[in-house]
Amino acid sequence: MRFSAAALVAALPALSAAQENPLDQYVAQFQQLVGKYSAYLPSPSKYDDVAAHEAKTGPKKLSVLGLHNWEETLYEPVAPDAKVPVEWWVLISGGNKTCYGRCGQAEAAFNETAVKFAQLPTAPHMGYVNCDDQPILCNSWSAGIGQIWAFEMLPKPAPIDVYKRRLNLTTVTSDELVALYEAGDKKEFTLIESWFHPFNGKAKELGLAIPFGYFLWAFNLLPQWAFMLIVSFLSRSMIGNRAQQRNRQGGAPGGAPAAARPK
Ligand SMILES: *[C@@H]1O[C@H](CO)[C@@H](O)[C@H](O)[C@H]1NC(C)=O
Ligand SMILES: *[C@@H]1O[C@H](CO)[C@@H](O)[C@H](O)[C@H]1NC(C)=O
Ligand SMILES: *[C@@H]1O[C@H](CO)[C@@H](O)[C@H](O)[C@H]1NC(C)=O
Repeated sequence: MRFSAAALVAALPALSAAQENPLDQYVAQFQQLVGKYSAYLPSPSKYDDVAAHEAKTGPKKLSVLGLHNWEETLYEPVAPDAKVPVEWWVLISGGNKTCYGRCGQAEAAFNETAVKFAQLPTAPHMGYVNCDDQPILCNSWSAGIGQIWAFEMLPKPAPIDVYKRRLNLTTVTSDELVALYEAGDKKEFTLIESWFHPFNGKAKELGLAIPFGYFLWAFNLLPQWAFMLIVSFLSRSMIGNRAQQRNRQGGAPGGAPAAARPK
């Protein structure tokens, strides 16, 4: 079992409700703390500038995205007064670690499609994220491997629609992807509305997307026994605190409930 973004999402409604109540203050403190210590965190992100330059200037015209450049890269072709969205297709891929070595066919199909799109002035711009190399970015988006994410970019500060489309990793071909583009609509895609939406998400708004990326990454490094230990420690101390509170409020042991009981 691995600790996943899905498990975390289950815990999120509580956090998003935190906006309207005193927890706000803790969120701010947490952000401060993260800002202070993030300089000391190891950087697990890998980015090969030379390979990225080759991909961008070669026949694919493919932009390799990393934590440090994804946002500026996606905004780059957007004119300041653009009214029509500029479309990007980004392949969320991975190697042996995050895709268990099964993303090869999807990558080949996508890269082949990029060469075709490079000839078409109206085709989407093409981008590529390797989640083996960019674990923080992928976790901060809560992105599923083996998907195309279609970004409809408009000038800042307009909200950005992002759609995802899962690929069949064993059968996907470039012809299929070209047909997907030629269809001219998003029927085969799903609009992303999650907490981790790269532009409009609550996590981004609160400045928590990147910290969550690190958090999930760190959790995935923990062996399972360590995870169980932490959960058991947390739940025990929470139950302990609640019992203390009850005693304080109730006065004598069993006080409040007993008094309320009809005789
Ligand atoms: C991925 O795993 C395969 C098979 O185990 C191996 O041949 C290949 O070299 C690995 N690739 C990387 C990038 O580690
Ligand atoms: C697809 O292109 C990316 C970026 O250039 C590259 O890293 C990846 O190895 C390519 N994949 C395949 C299967 O050609
Ligand atoms: C991918 O396509 C193959 C062949 O059509 C099918 O058997 C398989 O179930 C598909 N996989 C997924 C994840 O949809």
